Amino acid sequence: MLKNAIESRKPSGLRSLFLVSRGDQVEDLFYMAKQFAADGRIADIRELGNGNINDTFLVTLDARTEKHFILQRINTRVFVNPELVMRNMRVATEHMRSRLELRPPGKSRRWEIPAVLLAHDRRAILHGPDGSVWRGLSFIEGCRSFDMISDERHAEEVGYALGMFHTLLSDLPPDKLADTLEGFHITPRYLLRYDEVLAQRGAPGSPETDYCVRFVNERSRWAHVLEDAKKKGSLLLRPIHGDPKVDNIMIDAVTGQAAGIVDLDTVKPGLVHYDIGDCLRSGCNPSGEETMKWEGVVFDTDICRAIFRGYLADARRFLTEDDFSCLYDAVRLIAFELGLRFFTDFLEGNIYFKVKQPEHNLVRALVQFRLAESIESQEAAIRAIVRDVR
Ligand SMILES: Nc1ncnc2c1ncn2[C@@H]1O[C@H](COP(=O)(O)OP(=O)(O)O)[C@@H](O)[C@H]1O
Ligand SMILES: [Mg+2]
Repeated sequence: MLKNAIESRKPSGLRSLFLVSRGDQVEDLFYMAKQFAADGRIADIRELGNGNINDTFLVTLDARTEKHFILQRINTRVFVNPELVMRNMRVATEHMRSRLELRPPGKSRRWEIPAVLLAHDRRAILHGPDGSVWRGLSFIEGCRSFDMISDERHAEEVGYALGMFHTLLSDLPPDKLADTLEGFHITPRYLLRYDEVLAQRGAPGSPETDYCVRFVNERSRWAHVLEDAKKKGSLLLRPIHGDPKVDNIMIDAVTGQAAGIVDLDTVKPGLVHYDIGDCLRSGCNPSGEETMKWEGVVFDTDICRAIFRGYLADARRFLTEDDFSCLYDAVRLIAFELGLRFFTDFLEGNIYFKVKQPEHNLVRALVQFRLAESIESQEAAIRAIVRDVR
């Protein structure tokens, strides 16, 4: 795997042609990176982060001044319409930047919005001859992202970042954004699919699958809660991030404060509740979603309090009474929904989520269902946190 490609190591006189074979990956990268470099000079390219959707590279333009940008190969299996994804990204980032100029985040804080870079041909997307699709983004300097929440301070910063993001987009009409992932977080649709798969294939009888079937059954009516509120008009569509996980929150290496949020591929119209639910579901499960010890999974309410404290610092200004009243359901629902998706995929023969062994998706489902159960058993405490913190 390519880690570090120094241009000076290349044989002199070799032109940076786009070469398709894998062995020439360095050539591909230099060719693509040069399309975003004003004078065409690249000092260094290296792989960055452990995102599992796109391939991300840090490009250094000038070793002396340490000027960088991000080069990404977009995963077109996941994002089938990269042009729309990039349009959403530009609309959202430009809106946030104009909002930020009007109301900066206070002297003691920095907040950075990754800018979409245009290539020499003035386009935001580059196509490789092998069908690969590339983009350039400005680099948020001096930050790190983490795979897991480390403590309550980190949790509060994660919450702050999501609140800042939602606040900056709260006055962007959602119809300015395309729906690039139709059906995303529409729980009743996942339920319909589950019913179909269960009817067609049945469930192998085991205590674990029986537990899952019962778990879904007992909650299938309630699972319409957010979509019903949307239909009634009590919850409104707004721009959402779509993937507000810890590893997309950039933390300033010196101050420990959140300084930006990246991975804007999934920005689209939706309910902010999907993002809040997903952030809490992933952040408040200290065992992580890949644990095999699903019996011991619990929802950590101290982390939950810290995330809400950070989130509501800004977001309390635009959230309505109805928004607040659905926050508990959002946390419970998004854990339930992910469990349902894993379980459906297990029943279907593991066609959507990659697995390491045939029961992997079953275990993942059990983890999320246990998390949802832990959320249910702490309903009063979670509602009290929202009341206290707002
Ligand atoms: N504009 C940026 N500035 C700084 N770091 C970034 C930027 N964009 C991405 N990264 C880093 O690269 C990692 C992977 O990028 P991301 O866009 O999240 O890809 P994926 O969709 O694969 O998760 C991020 O977690 C972050 O650490
Ligand atoms: Mg990411």
